[in-house]
Amino acid sequence: MRDRSPRPEDLEPIERASVDEVRALQWERLQWSVRHAYENVPPYRTMCQERQVHPGDLRQPSDLARFPLTDKEVLRTTYPYGMFAVPRERISRLHASSGTTGRPTVVGYTREDITTWAGLMARSIRAAGGRPGDRVHVAYGYGLFTGGLGAHYGAEELGCTVIPVSGGMTERQVMLIRDLEPDVIMATPSYMLALVDEMRRQGVDPRSTSLTVGIFGAEPWTQGLRTEIERQLDIHAVDIYGLSEVMGPGVAMECVETKDGLHVWEDHFHPEIIDPRTGDVLPDGEVGELVFTSLTKQAMPVIRYRTRDLTRLLPGTARPMRRIEKITGRSDDMIILRGVNLFPTQIEELILRTPALAPHFQCVLSRTDRLDAMTVRVERRPDTDAQTAAQAGQELAALVKNTIGISVAIEVIEPGGVERSAGKMRRIVDQRPAH
Ligand code: DLL
Repeated sequence: MRDRSPRPEDLEPIERASVDEVRALQWERLQWSVRHAYENVPPYRTMCQERQVHPGDLRQPSDLARFPLTDKEVLRTTYPYGMFAVPRERISRLHASSGTTGRPTVVGYTREDITTWAGLMARSIRAAGGRPGDRVHVAYGYGLFTGGLGAHYGAEELGCTVIPVSGGMTERQVMLIRDLEPDVIMATPSYMLALVDEMRRQGVDPRSTSLTVGIFGAEPWTQGLRTEIERQLDIHAVDIYGLSEVMGPGVAMECVETKDGLHVWEDHFHPEIIDPRTGDVLPDGEVGELVFTSLTKQAMPVIRYRTRDLTRLLPGTARPMRRIEKITGRSDDMIILRGVNLFPTQIEELILRTPALAPHFQCVLSRTDRLDAMTVRVERRPDTDAQTAAQAGQELAALVKNTIGISVAIEVIEPGGVERSAGKMRRIVDQRPAH
């Protein structure tokens, strides 16, 4: 793999600043943002009044803990525009989060917000090893989803040639990679695996393409999958994180030179980790739910927004900003099976330790006689025979039992048997009857 580390002189001054300088800027912006939300978002002001807190009570960063937490429910009840802080005419773009049930959540951006976002995405692509002049194949969906347009504006801002492919039409994606010779690809990690399969089907050696960097996010993925993708494609695979409510992709980004978790762009976002049950703030290093306060957003500031994502905060390495560890999963995706908590990412790690199995899988939950059961439906690798694959299934069951401590059924199926997604992969199929 070619070295893709950015040169220090290519970074923004704040990326080379001291921790104290980052903190000072963050603190100044935090006070502005809380006041901006309080003064311009009536439902937020009401929440503060109910808790009897006022922006004047924010005298030091730790005082933020006195302010109310906000969540998706607040956005649902104020749907669509209730949490906007500027008149509707100043909104230059809307996006919406998919939301599997009910109403989506709508988010808005002023022109300046779009510029800030493009700048942060440019910073993120550069941190991943992208450079001005690179060709960037964007396979995130374009539309209300923030992935496609977020990546697009960032790549343009960095000075790249953008190839706005969007998701889907997998066969054509591979043709475009062959013909247009991109240096960078941006996709969900599960869709990248689908692209690798399609390359093989077309007789293209995935290691022979022009790609050198892959920027993967929008869903949880593991270190094991990074190793797998890097080996299969001979590229750097780096993690990008974000969510619509806080901005979109580019809230936190892994650096290609260290690949050790994602640096939160703390000059624009203030992270906290809370205990998801009590809401108490946890010290850095402890695992809990990630909470964000936006520091510069005009149209829709979010104060202490609960992401539901589980991770922990770690000190900065390649940049002065703190890192989040790779996300284990969302609290909504935690499976509780006979009293044991587990995440699909744990299953992914174990599958990747079983050479005859491919990382295409789903966790199917069912219930018989009031007892919950889980079947891991996983594909065999195309180059293994059915007998080796069946044996691998037994090995996987034993691994799950020994490492997670629960018995699950393993169903090894034919290559291509697990439904592919061009965007976020659905890992959990819940077939249990509704309560
Ligand atoms: O998924 C934004 C995005 C687009 C991020 C492209 C990265 C790349 P939403 O659709 O609002 O926004 O979904 C946000 O996706 O709360 C996480 O649960 C999950 N997620 C996003 N990035 C990662 C990641 C976009 N790198 C939700 N690792 C978040 C794990 C991720 N989960």
